[in-house]
Amino acid sequence: MDRSFFDLVIDRKGTNCLKYDDCVHRFGTADVLPLWVADMDFRVAPAISRVAEEIVKHGIYGYHHRTLRYYEAVMHWMFSRHKLEINPNEIFFTPGVVPAISYLIQAFSNVGDGILIQTPVYYPFFSVITDNKRNLLINQLVEKDNYYYIDFEDFERKASQAKIFLLCSPHNPVSRVWDIEELQQMAEICDKYGVLIISDEIHSDIVFGQKKHVPLSSLSEKVKNNVITCHSPSKTFNLAGLGLGYVIISNSEWRKKFKEYYKVLYAEGLNVFAYETMFAAYYESDDWYFSMLDYVYENYMFIKEFVSVELPFVRHTPLEATYLVWLDFRQLGLDDVGLRRAVIEKAQLGINDGPTFGPGGSGFQRINIACPRSVLEEALVRLKRLCPKH
Ligand SMILES: Cc1ncc(COP(=O)(O)O)c(C=O)c1O
Repeated sequence: MDRSFFDLVIDRKGTNCLKYDDCVHRFGTADVLPLWVADMDFRVAPAISRVAEEIVKHGIYGYHHRTLRYYEAVMHWMFSRHKLEINPNEIFFTPGVVPAISYLIQAFSNVGDGILIQTPVYYPFFSVITDNKRNLLINQLVEKDNYYYIDFEDFERKASQAKIFLLCSPHNPVSRVWDIEELQQMAEICDKYGVLIISDEIHSDIVFGQKKHVPLSSLSEKVKNNVITCHSPSKTFNLAGLGLGYVIISNSEWRKKFKEYYKVLYAEGLNVFAYETMFAAYYESDDWYFSMLDYVYENYMFIKEFVSVELPFVRHTPLEATYLVWLDFRQLGLDDVGLRRAVIEKAQLGINDGPTFGPGGSGFQRINIACPRSVLEEALVRLKRLCPKH
């Protein structure tokens, strides 16, 4: 697919999209270039547009029949991308991944139970735990020269108090693709203390360079029986507004338990657009998908070069996965309020504030690079205004 497809600047203002139309609430002003929430400014793959247009043309949006073909689409994608073989009865569709995590927490833990997360991390991980009145257990990742590692001693100490470990794999916002050894060690510790693992693998299709995503459930039969995987086409194919995710549960006892719990929620009846666009994404959008990966990675190479030449006061974490780059502004010597204010008022950028990702986020900002190159260029030029000499 041609680069020009992704170069196209599409005006999203006034469409009630969070990224552009919620800036006053988020940043206190509409006068920012928004590169925050994790959706893309790219139009979806042609096959997805086509299927959505056909539904609109037909003009009837009655009750939708969830047939085997949607389960097969997930199986097809999981096998072709991740060499994971799953059965249709292991898949449960949900209105998204965060709702799925919330349901899983409710089904597999009780009020007051400990749930372990690794920070800095995608901020709803905090609220989904505390809103469900479970206790947060934090294993802060260790940063060394802008690369992130796991403190396994601390991990084990916290795991020993946990009922569930909520893994982010690959990790948002530090962009780590966990190595097989790291995954194995985390899985072994969780097994030792009887901790169930929810593995949020929503970013696993967006992985770069030599790195390869290892689905946690692929490690062994034993691990497979101790993990519930969450995934979705929404990050990969820019479908977040259609509200579809799924969980994969291989352990038959857990499946039974979840099935009983889920039945009562009456939440599986998603809309026709969600199912049909997923189908088009998983079977007919490879060209768009691989071109999107190339485009995002070239954007990353551009940011990398720009930062090193033009923004010597900014460091960044190497992009192994996701389209979210974790920028380190600590050299500016500002406190978090000062940094946030400078980014919004001086650089006029709407990007994610590091502290919202929890311990380890101070001094950082997250920028979404799934946008046309010209937009990214403009954002980076604006960042030059933060240069102490400016
Ligand atoms: C790690 C992670 N999980 C889940 C989500 C959101 O999932 P959904 O929109 O399907 O609830 C995001 C979005 O950025 C994310 O980064």
